[in-house]
Amino acid sequence: MNDSISLIIMLSKTLGYSISVSLLMAIFFRLTINKFQTIRSIFLGLTRVSMIFVYVCVPLLILSLSAFLLAAIALISGVQISDPIANTVVFAVSYSMSFGIIVVVCYLIAFVVPMKVTGQFHTMQYEKYGPLSKWGDETRAYKRNIAWEGNVIEQLGTILKDIKGYNHKLRILAPAANNGHEELSLAKTLSNLLHRKIRMRTSDIATMSHAGFYQDAQVTFTYEQRDAYDLPKYLDERQDAIYDPKGILWFTMGQEKKLLKALRLYYDLLEDDGVIIIDAGETRKLLHAYNVLRLNFFMSLTYYAEISTYERLRKCFSTGSQASLLFTIELVPNLSGPYGMAILRKIPAAQEITA
Ligand SMILES: C[S@@+](CC[C@H](N)C(=O)[O-])C[C@H]1O[C@@H](n2cnc3c(N)ncnc32)[C@H](O)[C@@H]1O
Repeated sequence: MNDSISLIIMLSKTLGYSISVSLLMAIFFRLTINKFQTIRSIFLGLTRVSMIFVYVCVPLLILSLSAFLLAAIALISGVQISDPIANTVVFAVSYSMSFGIIVVVCYLIAFVVPMKVTGQFHTMQYEKYGPLSKWGDETRAYKRNIAWEGNVIEQLGTILKDIKGYNHKLRILAPAANNGHEELSLAKTLSNLLHRKIRMRTSDIATMSHAGFYQDAQVTFTYEQRDAYDLPKYLDERQDAIYDPKGILWFTMGQEKKLLKALRLYYDLLEDDGVIIIDAGETRKLLHAYNVLRLNFFMSLTYYAEISTYERLRKCFSTGSQASLLFTIELVPNLSGPYGMAILRKIPAAQEITA
């Protein structure tokens, strides 16, 4: 009994110290991450390491909780467990559970809170050294492995080919393009397929190495570091298409207010016959979780690490909803599994509706 009490006191002290240190770290990072690049990089590196710890601790927590439950069942049903075994189990369970809880709590306080408070949770992670800094390369590598572009290009071509007619230069905007390499390749392939000139503008809020300026007789490609919500200040003409897989619409997390703000932004950037192209890969929740784990451990992807933009948005497009007054949404025919895509078409008459 005394042993248990001193164990609990010791663990509470450890938790208390860890929370205090994490809080100090959170305050320090909150005040400095936007001011000093070196501190920002250290913060991201530490976030990555602690996220790996969290992933190790989650199975540990599940195991120790199961052992805890089994011990409780044994106690209730009066099963006698020999003292040395019971002591060892109690010790192992208490230590691993407490360790797991401490790591998860400290990770949340020291790293997640500063990113959330500064409103950068979904963007900082993609920066150099961040836990998802390899997201762009790994996702593109996965898509190359499944010959994604070759499988979807005909359907994308069908959607875009009639916009404004053959002689018009097709203007495509990718406002959350990550490193932009996929968009550059798409612009070249689409222009060959449609025999049309393409002006592809890409941008992303995060700093990262990215595709550079490219120009040939058919394609002009640019990349800029920008917040998508600032684009209206910089764009001097409306766009024919917005290519936004796992981008600005995805980050609205299917929350109606945020989604309407993003849709309104796109609505105003698009021509009246403009379209938004998004991903609609089949949802496979366990595989997504497994692949986030692989990303954190610097491993290649076996499927997408997150659910699709279409899956996130579709519930907001019920009949009569605000979103459905701005755009229609439909799946692109003949594409399924990891190749699924969806398209949102602007409803010009909705111009007077404000989000
Ligand atoms: C999951 S990645 C998707 C990248 C790309 N669309 C693709 O499918 O490969 C999301 C990207 O959105 C960027 N992002 C998030 N919020 C943004 C914003 N407000 N403006 C511009 N980019 C943003 C992030 O930095 C990140 O590179």
